[in-house]
Amino acid sequence: MMLSYPIRQLPLLCCCSLTILACWKYVVSGASSVVHLQEDGVARHDSGLTWHDTLPTLTTFTLCVRLYSLRSRYSDYFFSYAVEDNDNELAFHLKYKEKELRLACCSKRIFQKVPVNLELLSWFSFCAAVNLSDYTATFVHKGSVDRFTLFDSLQESNNPILVVSGGSVILGQDQDEPLGGTDKGQSFNGFIADLFFTQSLLTVQQMKDYLECKIDALLARQHLMDFENIEEKFMLGVETNVTTSLDICSSGNNKLFSVFAEGRTNKQANHFCSTVNGDVATPENTAENLALFNIGAKFADKCTEYDKGNSMWVGVYWEPEESLWKDQKTHKEAVYRNFEVEIQPSSREVLCVIASTLARSHEVTPNGNWDIEACGKVVCTACQFKRPVPMKLRGLCKESFFDREYYIYDTINYRPIFNGNSWSRIIWNVNQSAPHDYSWLLYQMGDPYIQARMVTSSILTYPVGLHEFEIIGDKCPGRLKKLKLTSCGQNMFTCGDGMCINLNLRCNLELDCEDHSDELNCESLIIPPGYKKRLPPPKVNSYTPASVFIDCDIVLVRKLDLLNSQITMDVVIKRTWYDSRLYYKNLHPDNNLNQIDTMDSVWYPDVTMLGSDYSQATYVLHRTAVWGQLTASPLPDDDQLIDEDVFYSGKVNPLVLEREFTITLMCTFDLTLYPFDSQHCQMVFYVGAYTQQYVVTSLKNVTFSGNRQLLEYRVTSLKHQPLLYQNKSGQHIEIELANLYGYYISGAYVPTMLLVIISYLTFYFSLDDFTNRVMVSLTSLLVLAALFSQIASGLPKTAYLKLIDVWFIFCIMSDFVMVSVLVIINSYMQVQMPIKVTPLISGVHGAKRGSQVGQRPRLTLDPRKWNTIAQVVLPLLMILFIIVYFGFVAFHMGRVQDEFEK
Ligand SMILES: *[C@@H]1O[C@H](CO)[C@@H](O)[C@H](O)[C@H]1NC(C)=O
Ligand SMILES: *[C@@H]1O[C@H](CO)[C@@H](O)[C@H](O)[C@H]1NC(C)=O
Ligand SMILES: *[C@@H]1O[C@H](CO)[C@@H](O)[C@H](O)[C@H]1NC(C)=O
Ligand SMILES: *[C@@H]1O[C@H](CO)[C@@H](O)[C@H](O)[C@H]1NC(C)=O
Ligand SMILES: *[C@@H]1O[C@H](CO)[C@@H](O)[C@H](O)[C@H]1NC(C)=O
Repeated sequence: MMLSYPIRQLPLLCCCSLTILACWKYVVSGASSVVHLQEDGVARHDSGLTWHDTLPTLTTFTLCVRLYSLRSRYSDYFFSYAVEDNDNELAFHLKYKEKELRLACCSKRIFQKVPVNLELLSWFSFCAAVNLSDYTATFVHKGSVDRFTLFDSLQESNNPILVVSGGSVILGQDQDEPLGGTDKGQSFNGFIADLFFTQSLLTVQQMKDYLECKIDALLARQHLMDFENIEEKFMLGVETNVTTSLDICSSGNNKLFSVFAEGRTNKQANHFCSTVNGDVATPENTAENLALFNIGAKFADKCTEYDKGNSMWVGVYWEPEESLWKDQKTHKEAVYRNFEVEIQPSSREVLCVIASTLARSHEVTPNGNWDIEACGKVVCTACQFKRPVPMKLRGLCKESFFDREYYIYDTINYRPIFNGNSWSRIIWNVNQSAPHDYSWLLYQMGDPYIQARMVTSSILTYPVGLHEFEIIGDKCPGRLKKLKLTSCGQNMFTCGDGMCINLNLRCNLELDCEDHSDELNCESLIIPPGYKKRLPPPKVNSYTPASVFIDCDIVLVRKLDLLNSQITMDVVIKRTWYDSRLYYKNLHPDNNLNQIDTMDSVWYPDVTMLGSDYSQATYVLHRTAVWGQLTASPLPDDDQLIDEDVFYSGKVNPLVLEREFTITLMCTFDLTLYPFDSQHCQMVFYVGAYTQQYVVTSLKNVTFSGNRQLLEYRVTSLKHQPLLYQNKSGQHIEIELANLYGYYISGAYVPTMLLVIISYLTFYFSLDDFTNRVMVSLTSLLVLAALFSQIASGLPKTAYLKLIDVWFIFCIMSDFVMVSVLVIINSYMQVQMPIKVTPLISGVHGAKRGSQVGQRPRLTLDPRKWNTIAQVVLPLLMILFIIVYFGFVAFHMGRVQDEFEK
């Protein structure tokens, strides 16, 4: 026999928690004795069982019990033994939040905590065997045997430790004095079953047998206290009923079905069930099907409105492609089917399945038969919940009286109840005298003056998702408040309609929720009230001012203007700093999704830039990007906020400001070595307005990502060092450029050299051909001068000589010297002319002519000799100069390091 049958007769307005047991798990066989405490769910101090007897003095004892909590209070005392001098002479209680079983004993000498796996709405069985003589305790609970050595907190080793006799035992309350001082915040709400307390010590095997329900032998023994004939041995408190015996131990189905008696298509039903953390009901055996049938039958009044057979959707569908009945969740073949006559539909379309609870005309007895139905039909929905995972209520303030976790079970006014985990619940409230006055009501059980009424928009609406509530009597400020009831687990975001999406999809610039709520409120920077933009980030400690890390990347050198002593560059400066006053929301690993538009209202390091000798720089801003950078893990979730946003502290996640601009800096160029020079340009930046006492900068990375080869120069290195400017922390970057002298080699040095050589070649012309000799030399001199003035016009005019000037002067001087020598040689030629002429007239007498020359003034040399000397000496002098000149150049070039070459 199923327990569920009698429940059909219960009035629906009464919410009887037994239905959980009936529909969820357990099948009657009559083995256990179960007491239901606080049957109406209201926390009270007068529920519980008071034992008529008392305990003797104990040094050893064993307690075994099965517990099923419906709600948890501050702590759940299920066993309390108080004597005159000590209210907790022996007490056991559960702490759900800490997931602990706690034992207090023996005149405040022993407190033992046992970590256990506690969950509301599931059975927890355990045995504890304690030998106080040797301070040992053995706890056996599901899956584990824990042995403890008890610690005597008073350390009175000479005073034997024991449980004093003569007190009173209350189950389900905490006594602060014998038979009194109970408190509803320390009461037990739920079922206590199969309890026994004995003076002997059970072996671990016996305790394991108890957990496995092999208890016949155990129950047959004599115990100090047990649940045999409960009504005789105990006095039952208010709302404390001994229930029909339940077989806790047999494993039946463990699904909970809830019917939602509004018409939905199959698709809507699937969506709806998923928003309440469930699936469309899919019975997998006859027992489950019967359970669904039983619960569905109670909604006949409502659901026959949509379908004469009072049907509900079943999570099975016909897949025409494979000709199979499949499970909607797993998409595998549905093993269990309960069609009255199973046919193979010939339909080419997907077909859905309903289960009816009323006899259709041709059926004799209704037994939850299934039937094929078009998926678009509107019928009632039954959802199944496999594990009691609570739904969360978000948006309540810290002080609120309302619970934050809700479980769906039981029914009021044909609608499921959302039962809170401690004090409150949400019900469908209908004013009996005005049937159209209905709403979802969140209220404190036992104190209806603390309530929140959902501002319902339609009769189909459930409190799931985001809704507005009108609140009375709660401690949170404000009368109207938005609250969100959600089934979404960790790292999920709840859309306005209750659907869950992965939290990564929140604020990712894509619409993932049907109502687009995932892309609302996406600003990623949170500026707390009282934030002052003028104040730099707080110091980490009293010695360490706020740090600003600077990355500088030179993207491009646009122009190097020697004439105006300027360099123009495109620079990206990235500033990274931590502002512990700020918070970020929903940071993504991809910085592009973390962009911030509200930079105007937060402090940021305003970098001032200077050129050489701290001269002002001019710049044009091209681009500003600000983002919060995800570097550290998020803060814990705060359910006071409606949205499941992930918050990050500004203390460990930096703010980054990246700006790109074209900057024009003054440089002082030194052109002495031109065109074999290398130049240094200085760029200084510092955080204006704050001295180093408040803000320090440090340069993380200086890079040159652009093309280093300019037209005339090449960037050879970047050097940087910190600097103080007017007591403000700054950085100094030096850009080194080396001249690319190739143009001058081919455009100046080689042609001028050639001209000088041409001029020199005139010494090999015939001595007599003075006109041509001097003409060629002079022409070369003229061309040289023209070249010189042409090249000089492209260069800054400097007071000092540049290396190239030296070269020109050398060339011109060389040419000048050659012309001069030519002229001098020629003048000697003129002097010797008559001597030369005479032999020509009187005939050729070589030897005679020689003697004649000897007779002439000996002071002068032979012009040919002069010519020969010039032919030898001039190139020697020139080569000497060239060696010195280029030796000097090579020496300087060797000192230029090109760090990018490596
Ligand atoms: C409890 O411990 C004491 C001391 O070790 C031992 O003598 C006694 O037998 C134990 N009691 C039981 C019931 O095992
Ligand atoms: C439980 O006991 C109370 C009295 O304490 C009684 O009013 C109530 O009807 C009982 N409930 C059931 C289901 O028997
Ligand atoms: C129920 O409806 C009646 C009639 O409209 C009204 O007087 C009464 O105040 C309502 N009760 C509640 C609790 O709203
Ligand atoms: C400097 O920047 C380059 C390129 O952006 C990067 O590869 C390198 O790791 C950075 N170095 C430091 C010390 O941050
Ligand atoms: C810099 O700081 C020093 C010491 O704090 C102070 O004596 C000096 O006047 C400051 N200089 C300027 C330019 O503010």
